[in-house]
Amino acid sequence: MQAEARFQRNMIKLENKLNYLKKTLQSNFSPNQKEWIQNHLMTFNKLYETLQKNSSNSESLEKISEDLYHNVRKAKRRVLYWIKFKSRDIDTFRTLRKEKGETWIPIVDLIDPPPRIHEIQNTHLWDLSFPCMSYTNEELCQFTEMIFKEQNLLSEFNISSDKFGIVVKKICAEYNAPAYHNFSHGFNVFQMFYALVKKTELESALDKVEKFATLIAALGHDMNHRGYNNAYESKLKTKTALTYYDTAILENMHASFIIKILKDPDIEFFNSLPDVTKQTQFRDLIIAVILATDMSKHFKLLKKFSAGVQATMEYRKLKSSDQPVDKYLEDNAFIMDRPQDKRRILKNIIHACDIGNPCQKYENYIYWSTLVTQEFDYQAKKEEKRGIEVTQMFKYKDLPSFFNGQVFFSRNLVLPLWEQIAILFHGAAEAPQNLKMNLKRLEEDKIKANED
Ligand code: CMP
Repeated sequence: MQAEARFQRNMIKLENKLNYLKKTLQSNFSPNQKEWIQNHLMTFNKLYETLQKNSSNSESLEKISEDLYHNVRKAKRRVLYWIKFKSRDIDTFRTLRKEKGETWIPIVDLIDPPPRIHEIQNTHLWDLSFPCMSYTNEELCQFTEMIFKEQNLLSEFNISSDKFGIVVKKICAEYNAPAYHNFSHGFNVFQMFYALVKKTELESALDKVEKFATLIAALGHDMNHRGYNNAYESKLKTKTALTYYDTAILENMHASFIIKILKDPDIEFFNSLPDVTKQTQFRDLIIAVILATDMSKHFKLLKKFSAGVQATMEYRKLKSSDQPVDKYLEDNAFIMDRPQDKRRILKNIIHACDIGNPCQKYENYIYWSTLVTQEFDYQAKKEEKRGIEVTQMFKYKDLPSFFNGQVFFSRNLVLPLWEQIAILFHGAAEAPQNLKMNLKRLEEDKIKANED
């Protein structure tokens, strides 16, 4: 394409983006935000008009229009974040899709976030089925701070509330708004892990660094997810796929995003930890638990974890009756004062929380499963459009197939992992129990859907 044509194309894109920014002024902003948008719009429009009138050579015009487009896009991203921050993710998703004239699969119209609990107390956040999807990103950031404070993590590491607030908002800002992998999902995994800590002996077994690292990793474990999976990145040979040699592409990217925020010179988060050893332990644990959320490792992880759980049961039995313990059991059992064992457990638990929506109350579970199905379908459509191999099983067919897919996922992937967790920690028993009840409901709803 000639420079002149590229310039014209940039001008069309610029006009669209500027119109979009102008339209956003109708949303509810603080006076400062409104002023920021108005000032930027004024400058952008002036530059745009100057470019329109200019007749210098097309190559320099193209370059300037490109730079301007880049800056307008950055401003739009910031403004969208302000809107997203004050909204529930489901509303952001629907608004963005409507604006683009895109539709969604019919079951998305059937879901509504569960009722909100008013005046959230710490104890509400100990519930495995806390309805986080019913709250705005801003509220979820507040609940995040409540959890860290309840665990005395800010005081322990001398981190001011202001500084921590900035970290949480930065994490939130780096989440996009696809149907499923948004900040609400990040929060959901984080809060589910917290609920488990409160319900089990993890509360006393984990030290402060382990708790801090795992909580922050859970919160940021899907940062910058764009709603497409590893295979999609790989097929398209995206920059991220090339950076991570097609291996755990997204998980590596998420881990790098969170570490970057914690290393930000304005935040200097790592300096809050007492020494280099603790800083390394903190960083390594964050990376390890995020990499463990890679679904391609699920069965390998589960096999090792189950062997560990079995060894732990035998180990505990022998120990309680004062019998000798052999080396195999000593090496393979989970012994809670060994950091390497806690790390193995934490990797499995964060992965379990990441696929843990079938262990929540049915209304929460159906909400998440509908949105993940929507995201899969969107990827399949995008693959079709881009002319790459289409992930056929991601295409939404009908309600009975949806229920079938859910039964398969919950029974074969999620339940075996959570059953092991519940053997290790009795306080987690509610999770596989909920899942089994959900399986019954899924079967009933499938029959109803077949009758309709
Ligand atoms: P990801 O977050 O990368 O890793 C866990 C995966 O589990 C997630 O992507 C989805 O692909 C999948 N997943 C989570 N919840 C469900 C669900 N309810 N139904 C089907 N797949 C799911």
